[in-house]
Amino acid sequence: KADDHAHAHHDPAAEGPTPPLFTWEFASDPYPAYAWLREHAPVHRTALPSGVEAWLVTRYADARQALADQRLSKNPVHHSEAAHGKGKVGIPGERSANLMTHLLNIDPPDHTRLRRLVSKAFTPRRVAEFAPRVQELTDRLIDGFAARGEADLIHEFAFPLPIYAICDMLGVPPEDQDDFRDWAGMMIRHGGGPRGGVARSVKRMRTYLAELIHRKREDLGDDLISGLIRASDHGEHLTENEAAAMAFILLFAGFETTVNLIGNGTYALLRNPGERERLQRALAAGDESLLETGVEELLRYDGPVELATWRFATRDLTIGGQRIAEGDPVLVVLAAADRDPERFAEPDTLDLARSDNQHLGYGHGIHYCLGAPLARLEGRTALATLLRRLPDLRLSADPDDLRWRGGLIMRGLRTLPVAFSPEPGQTG
Ligand code: HEM
Repeated sequence: KADDHAHAHHDPAAEGPTPPLFTWEFASDPYPAYAWLREHAPVHRTALPSGVEAWLVTRYADARQALADQRLSKNPVHHSEAAHGKGKVGIPGERSANLMTHLLNIDPPDHTRLRRLVSKAFTPRRVAEFAPRVQELTDRLIDGFAARGEADLIHEFAFPLPIYAICDMLGVPPEDQDDFRDWAGMMIRHGGGPRGGVARSVKRMRTYLAELIHRKREDLGDDLISGLIRASDHGEHLTENEAAAMAFILLFAGFETTVNLIGNGTYALLRNPGERERLQRALAAGDESLLETGVEELLRYDGPVELATWRFATRDLTIGGQRIAEGDPVLVVLAAADRDPERFAEPDTLDLARSDNQHLGYGHGIHYCLGAPLARLEGRTALATLLRRLPDLRLSADPDDLRWRGGLIMRGLRTLPVAFSPEPGQTG
């Protein structure tokens, strides 16, 4: 029975106090605090920066089980504080912009129906066909700084790549994509901060997408939005509102995550020169297998999604021996689970060839990341092209001076300053 963990009970006095969570220091390296929680308080109730109280689940076995537990609902109406209007657990602005019915906020049977429909449009095959376009985008962005010998890889590379990629896939015309870039920039800069601008950006995006869907309906193409409009299941289609919410969640879920995969991944490679050289040698020899296992390992080692999105207990239940009351929020800490020594050998070591690597970076169960094929494509293309074109890429700042964004769900760098030999034949 998974509930009765056979771990030793410690003398509370010897354990020391719970390490501080959600401070700036914690944001730059949360892993020691997570190790402490896994060991001493694997299902831990804490006040989040917003004041909302939630349970943190940090062990791999408990985390995996919780992600698949249908008694944990994604719908914020089950939050005990929702009744008092206190719960602040969604995407800022989504309520006003009528975007609530997206995959990460709903349960079966609605989730099953919507996910089946979107899966018909957003297929691995469509993603594979998109590979040359991702390569083109990647090269164009590197062209922008290759002659300069230095760059901020977050602002000039990791940030624009996913937003242009998903806009392209959705069928947003090129001349409108910079608007999305600005809206997304507002969301990433102020996530967890002042909300006014974010809510406005979300609303503009929503209005734009609704109009685009309306226009495409008249003139279907082979882009993803046309695919969403066309998708049908047993004669059922997405309503315009559902299609807009779906396009929005693809943008929202696929944007900052991929920024962080490229940012955290590049950073981890630069901090682990042995592994980085190993990957460069493999790529130079035309061997892509280390790139494939390597991107999975980077997701496990320092993944973009630190905590899975909100879940709420629909009745009293037990996780890892801890009683959870109906209405309580539960946050599964993917970053802690993926460093659990009970599941991964030498979890704090980056091993690009790690084979037994069922990490939870993309979640697990019915909400498993729908965009994983696109994320993998973007991650592999971005890292391989950087290492190939800028082979002596190096960090140009003291790691202690780098700042991490302080959001709750995501983990990523604000800036990643690098230096390299300017690429010959490029003009700045
Ligand atoms: C769900 C991670 C990229 C679309 C999820 C979940 C995780 C995740 C952990 C589950 C959340 C939960 O259960 O609470 C990631 C990571 C990415 C990435 C680490 C990049 C490296 C993308 C991309 C897209 C995308 C590129 C689409 C363009 C989605 C959607 C869901 C989702 C639609 C909701 C699925 C559902 O509820 O059925 N992702 N994601 N993701 N992801 Fe991703």
